[in-house]
Amino acid sequence: MTQLRTGRRRYYDIFSHCYDAFIRLHSRQNEDDTRDFLVDAAHLGGKCIPRILDVCCGTGSVILTFKERCPDALAVGYDFSHGMLSRAQEKNRGDTVFVEGDAAALPFAEDTFDVVTCSHALYELKGETRQTALREMKRVVRPDGYVLVMEHEVPRHPVVRFLFHVRMASMGAKDAREFVRGGLDPFRRIFPSVSLSHSRTGKSKLVSCRK
Ligand SMILES: C[S@@+](CC[C@H](N)C(=O)[O-])C[C@H]1O[C@@H](n2cnc3c(N)ncnc32)[C@H](O)[C@@H]1O
Repeated sequence: MTQLRTGRRRYYDIFSHCYDAFIRLHSRQNEDDTRDFLVDAAHLGGKCIPRILDVCCGTGSVILTFKERCPDALAVGYDFSHGMLSRAQEKNRGDTVFVEGDAAALPFAEDTFDVVTCSHALYELKGETRQTALREMKRVVRPDGYVLVMEHEVPRHPVVRFLFHVRMASMGAKDAREFVRGGLDPFRRIFPSVSLSHSRTGKSKLVSCRK
């Protein structure tokens, strides 16, 4: 793992102690709306799919919610931060599996999962790592499956938009900002079929990809 990624991993190990509280504060009542929107999409019209992988799962909000709805599914959460995965494991009431590793090298065979999700994380990965991670998601999803990526939308409110750009700048800037603004291009370079929708609040966008 590069030095940059090691630093980021340590950052999340520390952040993990207050991550859920921070997200609650930041999102207020909209948190469930956003997460549920992704889980609804992974639910494929109310049907429980058998195998789901959540890449960059953090403290497990998406994968654990999915598992509550579909207790019989094989649910795997994947992240490179030991701290984030420890918090996820503490909340794990079922048999969700958590695996530690880099999104750019998924330790799963090709065509393993029916759905691969990734929420609010891809924008943090730098150029080539992000494209490699997307290629990896494509590799491990089944030919008839979906890769569902949820990302921040650029906020409309000027003050919130300013704070958003400050955060982007703190993340290594241009690259992350271009990705968030870049719409579907980074996805279209990898997947032949890509579509876009938004959560009810409009704060997050969902990119659905098929291989
Ligand atoms: C902003 S958090 C999002 C967590 C979660 N998906 C959510 O929606 O709450 C970003 C997560 O991506 C993980 N992450 C960042 N870069 C990664 C990489 N290269 N490989 C694996 N995980 C990574 C971090 O450890 C962190 O848990």
